[in-house]
Amino acid sequence: MTRRFSLTVIAGARPNFMKVAPIIHAAHKVSAVDLRLVHTGQHYDDHMSAQFFRDLQIPHPDLHLEVGSGSHAVQTARVMTAFDKALDDHPTDVVLVVGDVNSTLGCALVAVKRGIQVAHVEAGLRSRDRRMPEEINRILTDQVSDYLFTTERDAADNLRAEGIPADKIHFVGNVMIDTLMKNRAIARERSTVLARLTLAPREYAACTLHRPSNVDTRADAERTLEAVRQLANRLKVVLPLHPRSTAKLQEFGLLDAFRARATVIEPLGYLDFLSLLDNARLVLTDSGGIQEETTVLGVPCLTFRENTERPITVTHGTNRVVGLDPARVGAAVEDIMTGGEFTPRIPELWDGHAAERIVEILASRQAP
Ligand code: UD1
Repeated sequence: MTRRFSLTVIAGARPNFMKVAPIIHAAHKVSAVDLRLVHTGQHYDDHMSAQFFRDLQIPHPDLHLEVGSGSHAVQTARVMTAFDKALDDHPTDVVLVVGDVNSTLGCALVAVKRGIQVAHVEAGLRSRDRRMPEEINRILTDQVSDYLFTTERDAADNLRAEGIPADKIHFVGNVMIDTLMKNRAIARERSTVLARLTLAPREYAACTLHRPSNVDTRADAERTLEAVRQLANRLKVVLPLHPRSTAKLQEFGLLDAFRARATVIEPLGYLDFLSLLDNARLVLTDSGGIQEETTVLGVPCLTFRENTERPITVTHGTNRVVGLDPARVGAAVEDIMTGGEFTPRIPELWDGHAAERIVEILASRQAP
């Protein structure tokens, strides 16, 4: 009989769902893995969560912790308390967490303190900006992890510099790109988003902005508005707005000003959003994952932040980190609209098979 081990996969917030999907699908094919999926409920709206489960054919979670929104402390504490209890009822050999959200850190901390092995997917990325909540989550999660699965070679240097032994680090590629590659053709076939919004391919810009540093104060939100204006001078702008941004812009009375410059819509599901990116002339964002997706799609990306934890999207891909001066957004848009074509290189191992590598490594160590 094959030896088996139990693997508990954590998903909590929107950027986690496209990362766990291929891991779950790969694990289902390996008989040594006894899989459980836990949804923390950090994100809970249909268009922030359930739509992704439907689009990506992720099975219903075995357990939903329903933690909901709150301050960082409250949210992380709720994740920890609920997940600790869940492990009483369902012990496991390995807890696998992805990305850098509060659910990632909360579940990693609970697991390590119970003597359970932790696997972190997307380990070693660093913006070197500790004002970002995600940077704290990344550093701490990596410190307590036993398996550190990385997406780019630079990540191993970051981890070794923080004292992580080399034998814990596994360069496997990018699970989010597994999902993109699997779904690009499906999105082209099924998504009706362009028709619904009367958009022509390459004649609009897609925009997402939700980082606290870009929307949480009135001054930051006004600066963000000016960046959108710079873009709207040149192209029609489509802005699927994250609920935190909607709430903040409403609070500052700025939502109508955004609507005057952009087609502001609700957040989109995975397939519609992929189609929106795939057909865009360019993208303006403060997201991490979108920098990677545009690199593979070959769509120019302007990152409205002062730094990136994903430098390979700049050295190999289509990403430019423009900083927070709206005038620089305007200049970069002009440059792209008038500039020549540029052929990005697909980063090493971003080949659609990262999740299989992860499951293979776990199975070979846990159930040899
Ligand atoms: C979280 C992640 C961030 C990620 C983002 C993607 C952390 C620290 N941050 O930030 O890295 O880029 O998700 O979406 O984990 N809300 C809803 N419905 C939902 C979820 C949230 O209305 O389904 C609203 C609530 O008002 C909530 C606010 O959005 O307070 C912020 O949600 P939260 O999960 O705390 O952080 P995000 O900004 O989404």
